[in-house]
Amino acid sequence: MARPKIALIGAGQIGGTLAHLAALKELGDVILFDIAEGTPQGKALDIAESGPSEGFDATMKGTNDYADIAGADVCIVTAGVPRKPGMSRDDLLGINLKVMKSVGEGIKAHAPDAFVICITNPLDAMVWALQKFSGLPANKVCGMAGVLDSARFRHFLSVEFGVSMKDVTAFVLGGHGDTMVPSVRYSTVAGIPLPDLVKMGWTSQEKLDAIVQRTRDGGAEIVGLLKTGSAFYAPATSAIEMAESYLKDQKRVLPCAAYCDGELGVKDMYVGVPTVIGAGGIEKIVNITLNKEEQEMFDKSVAAVKGLVDACKGIDESLA
Ligand code: APR
Repeated sequence: MARPKIALIGAGQIGGTLAHLAALKELGDVILFDIAEGTPQGKALDIAESGPSEGFDATMKGTNDYADIAGADVCIVTAGVPRKPGMSRDDLLGINLKVMKSVGEGIKAHAPDAFVICITNPLDAMVWALQKFSGLPANKVCGMAGVLDSARFRHFLSVEFGVSMKDVTAFVLGGHGDTMVPSVRYSTVAGIPLPDLVKMGWTSQEKLDAIVQRTRDGGAEIVGLLKTGSAFYAPATSAIEMAESYLKDQKRVLPCAAYCDGELGVKDMYVGVPTVIGAGGIEKIVNITLNKEEQEMFDKSVAAVKGLVDACKGIDESLA
């Protein structure tokens, strides 16, 4: 059987890392697409030349021509601009919306059967627009945010408790912005919910609150340190986890920006929710019940995403 074809739209920091990870994990043959001439070709050649040492079997090709993504099984979109210190993800909206239009048209023309994972920020609004521009079924277009936000939450928790990250589960709901909702009640260490760990005296509520806030600010913390761009290792790893679940029909339960048509009370919008990803794309949205406090935070986050979606409609009439 032929190897799956993975198209990476955007060959910048995240795109290059995605290509490297896809090769190391032998997920399929990789096409790196970018508008910058030489960048995708150079990265593809560099990664291909790591093959003899790593021993992976995958081809790498860089291109500036959408025709080369023809028949892709998976497209991961990072095309656009990242934020600089002092910028919020929302500041990128106008520029990256135009990019989503051209990317959506490229995917529609050449890879209409692909499972599409968007990473470009502001994520929830960009994936919504990308689905509209591409016209692909909503269950085949999703956004990567929750896996990354949850990974950050899990990392901070594992350091606080001094336990393996493998034994910490956590998930983050809502939009990929300052209003995201790290779910304390549904996050655990070896199955024990965080509120129980506070009662047991293993941590304090204050420490937990600080970790929740650090998770919300996780992206900005990295931007502040790097100064020239935003995070790329963990975002790439998170998207690869989603792509692998699709390609291998793993049916992982992963939080991601999925199209909600009434689930969790959200209508015609993309927002971070727990999903099942398998060969059918987003096969299920796990319609969890929230308590009053969680619902209030989630509603606030959804309202923030709605504001960005409305701004997109104001900029591009075809989306209204
Ligand atoms: N089509 C294709 N590629 C494009 C386009 C376009 N219309 N416009 C820009 N690009 C390319 C750039 O040439 C660049 O190589 O997108 C790439 C973006 O790479 P980086 O600037 O390195 O950004 P990166 O860190 O990879 O982040 C990409 O993901 O997390 C989000 O906020 C982040 O929106 C940003 C995106």
